[in-house]
Amino acid sequence: MKISIFGLGYVGAVSCACLPELGHDVIGVDTNPSKVRMINDGASPVVEEGIDELIAAAVRAGRLRATNDVEAAVLGSEVSLISVATPSNSNYTPNLGAVDIVIRSIGAVLSGKPGHHTVVLRSTVPPGTTEDRILPVLEESAGRKVGDRLSLVFNPEFLREGSSVKDFHHPPQTVVGSLDDAGYVAMERMYAGLPGQMVRTSCRVAESVKYLCNVFHAMKIVFANEAGSVLKACGLDGREVMRIFCQDTQLNISPAYLRPGFAFGGSCLPKEVKGFLALAREKEVPIPALAGLLDSNDAHIDRAYEMIARHGRRKVALFGLAFKPGTDDMRDSPLVTLAERLLGKGFDLAIYDNFVKVSRLLGKNKEFIDREIPHLDRLLRESPEQVLEDAQVIVVGHADKAARQAIIAGAAGRRIVDLSGYAELRTSGAAEYEGICW
Ligand SMILES: NC(=O)c1ccc[n+]([C@@H]2O[C@H](COP(=O)([O-])OP(=O)(O)OC[C@H]3O[C@@H](n4cnc5c(N)ncnc54)[C@H](O)[C@@H]3O)[C@@H](O)[C@H]2O)c1
Repeated sequence: MKISIFGLGYVGAVSCACLPELGHDVIGVDTNPSKVRMINDGASPVVEEGIDELIAAAVRAGRLRATNDVEAAVLGSEVSLISVATPSNSNYTPNLGAVDIVIRSIGAVLSGKPGHHTVVLRSTVPPGTTEDRILPVLEESAGRKVGDRLSLVFNPEFLREGSSVKDFHHPPQTVVGSLDDAGYVAMERMYAGLPGQMVRTSCRVAESVKYLCNVFHAMKIVFANEAGSVLKACGLDGREVMRIFCQDTQLNISPAYLRPGFAFGGSCLPKEVKGFLALAREKEVPIPALAGLLDSNDAHIDRAYEMIARHGRRKVALFGLAFKPGTDDMRDSPLVTLAERLLGKGFDLAIYDNFVKVSRLLGKNKEFIDREIPHLDRLLRESPEQVLEDAQVIVVGHADKAARQAIIAGAAGRRIVDLSGYAELRTSGAAEYEGICW
């Protein structure tokens, strides 16, 4: 393929070095004449392991050159990759000025170019940017719509500076958001030969995945550093603890606990978080990120309450009370907190949890519920059908299969507030459906 690359920084330079290896002809474009000159001299504008040799070889083979002539670059290519910088504004929003300029100038050339062209945004931008901001500018300046010899794609870059050439050859996955089918096909042709899964999704999802990857990486580093600092204060080697911690690929380094849904609770997580915070306080080690965990969890319960309360004080049927399905343990269950909140605010509440039977509650579990919801027996119903009687709003914390079938059978005319994410609830035919994170 013939590819133009706008922005010869870390991202653009690595693409210039590696795409010719896949058999493509590449033209780099930058407003900085030194970067253009360096590429044409066969040198890399950025320092990265292995990049100098690749750029020199590509220039020698006639597969790579650079220019500041936008028109020549667009006319001489079928795909344009945009990897200009998106630095932070003073209010921390990304400055998209350079992206706007490049899109407008590419569009202006496309207005007089016959044939199909694919415009690919690679700079990191907030969700919605490609569709809401880039698309109208591109279509207006090109004088044609996406689908009419024009594709617009968002394809995030996951490389890490320092190992970017290696990362190019071994991507964790290739994520492509496109506004038409031809955009996906162009990216599949461009990356043909690289390993890893090729993911077709929307531009908004692709933009969000890239943002969240960086936020998650930052969160992992902060977690390891805060944990390591408390451990050091306890006379331990934080690296040793984290080494063993990371060997658990079932619960720790895995998709476990990464499914958006309702708040955490139960007899262990809140208690252990509080215990670790107490330890940090005792050792006088400030850990602001971990100290925010409980507030964040409470804010999530507030969000669930607001979703229910938004439509006034209605009759509410709550499915699930224990902290997770399949147990009657209600200690520190966020659903108990939510139920308490609804009762305190005067909601008419009925509850169904197949595993919770007041007559069978014992010990700490009974003490907890006697303290938090003393009249639970009056709120609990024996069957899903009973809890649904008169209900205007159905709140699903968790529900077994029979309960889910009853919810679907009784959904018509009612609102469902879904904290669980069971797929079938979404298409239940409820008058209104809202999920907590979807
Ligand atoms: N650096 C990384 O590791 C990395 C990784 C993934 C994604 N990203 C994202 O990719 C984007 C680029 O990052 P970078 O680190 O390569 O940036 P960079 O600052 O190193 O390079 C940006 C380049 O764009 C050029 N430029 C600016 N305006 C231009 C224009 N109108 N026409 C042509 N060129 C123009 C600049 O001269 C510069 O050479 C950013 O959105 C960044 O967040 C960066």
